[in-house]
Amino acid sequence: MKYDKEINRRKTFAIISHPDAGKTTLTEKLLLFGGAIQTAGAVKSNKIKKHATSDFMEIERQRGISVATSVMSFEYQNILINLLDTPGHKDFAEDTYRTLTAVDSVILVIDSVNGVEPQTRRLMEVCRMRATPVIVFINKMDRDGKNRFDLLEEIENELKISLHPMTWPINSGKEFKGVYNLHDKNLRLFAASTKAEEEDIVAIQDLSSDVLQEKIGDRDAAVLREDVELIDGVYGALNATDYLEGKIAPVFFGSAVNNFGVKEMLDTFIQIAPIPRDRETNIREVKAGEDKFSGFIFKIHANLDPKHRDRIAFMRVCSGRFERNKYYKHVRLEKDVRFTNPYTFLARSKDIIDDAYPGDVVGLFDTGNFKIGDTLTEGEKFYFIGIPTFSPEIFKELVNKDPMKTKQLEKGITQLTDEGVAQLFTQFGGNKKIIGCVGDLQFEVIQYRLLQEYGAACEFRTLPFYKACWLTSKDQNKLNDFLRFKQQNAAMDKDESPVYLAQSEWFLNTEITNNPDITFHFTNEVNK
Ligand code: G4P
Repeated sequence: MKYDKEINRRKTFAIISHPDAGKTTLTEKLLLFGGAIQTAGAVKSNKIKKHATSDFMEIERQRGISVATSVMSFEYQNILINLLDTPGHKDFAEDTYRTLTAVDSVILVIDSVNGVEPQTRRLMEVCRMRATPVIVFINKMDRDGKNRFDLLEEIENELKISLHPMTWPINSGKEFKGVYNLHDKNLRLFAASTKAEEEDIVAIQDLSSDVLQEKIGDRDAAVLREDVELIDGVYGALNATDYLEGKIAPVFFGSAVNNFGVKEMLDTFIQIAPIPRDRETNIREVKAGEDKFSGFIFKIHANLDPKHRDRIAFMRVCSGRFERNKYYKHVRLEKDVRFTNPYTFLARSKDIIDDAYPGDVVGLFDTGNFKIGDTLTEGEKFYFIGIPTFSPEIFKELVNKDPMKTKQLEKGITQLTDEGVAQLFTQFGGNKKIIGCVGDLQFEVIQYRLLQEYGAACEFRTLPFYKACWLTSKDQNKLNDFLRFKQQNAAMDKDESPVYLAQSEWFLNTEITNNPDITFHFTNEVNK
């Protein structure tokens, strides 16, 4: 098809991890390999430290910097790699979940000392929902980590994914000697440098060879032989289809900060990671190779600087070719829109682009026309599905402090929630506005922005809910009765879908048991 050449050379992915596992460090090493940056440390400014103060302005300022590096495009061995950045701060987890809807695969970084951590679990849940292919990088092998077999078992059990080791470590911590590449059958000896030298690699086809002892000593050679025999017996060869279907995750061991084990992973990544995939819409599957352009908005970033009120909508191209200055259909608004200054993201700068292809992410200036999930096409009416919303974790009532500004407040909160800053619910049978967020920081962001951008003063009143569940039922009467009986816990979301706000897991489970005709959904589709 027309754009196959462009599609076949693209890989769009994200690196995900629990904060501090090494995502930023790994990103930086990948960019070094791609020649996108020349020096180490260049990506650091992008990082929002987990210990960041609760000063959201500072965090937003850093996020502002991070817009430029939201997508890092670089070439490696003639493959164009689009690496989508995800915020490290847990309060911005929703941003990460949405970014995952725009990638074709992920690399999951796990700290060998800490193993599976809370954020790792949640991110993997999102990947599983979409059957996203995952490559696992077990980082910090230069530290005394968990036993390698125990670690694999922990990851398999906790993340509910089968693993397939591609490299195998020889010890860890001070004793870490390197990795054996099970696929290419060679040994890479660990050197604590920032450059991986070719000389460090020793081909060892047959592990019984004496060269192994020479390189790593008798004891470790014996352990490695035993390990590899066991692994070969258990895992066999990697089944690429299982990987592409998200059933099996290839695993690499390494140390990002020492640039060790990274190249092996990158080389495998460009071979096996999926090219831009076909995508489901509400009416049909859209093939990446179709001639006509389509894409969707997965993230909106607002500028907090009052002098620059622009927002940037991030659009993933799904099919065809996107062109600057051409009119496209904004399906939800049923209007034609065009973009004079769309830009692409190179690791160093933002550049205006003339066209883009499936897998690419384009930044579009937006004055409030977009919300998450919006679809652009060349005229056809469909919207992409599989863009989920998750339950917030903190709920507060929005209280208007200035009745003269009610209209501004309503407009402001609608626009902010369109951007995905938070979720908005309205009390069932009433007017009370309930805001749901993943982290406390967002409430500060909302309060600040409502005042600065809309002139509306507000405050928040804490509500005792812990989870929102979307409700459906084949029996509309039963659902209505439930909502009436449970009015205190019932609300409507922005699309008028009914929601149950649970006070605790116990209450939630009780309601689920007592109401077999009602289905409680833990996620909701942005486009229904
Ligand atoms: P994140 O983006 O996932 O949050 O993690 P990041 O890369 O910032 O790494 C978190 C910390 O772990 C950093 O140390 C980083 O240097 C360190 N790190 C990354 N990879 C390795 C590794 O392979 N081995 C070891 N031992 N450490 C590693 P920091 O002290 O928080 O920051 P910095 O002062 O080093 O920049």
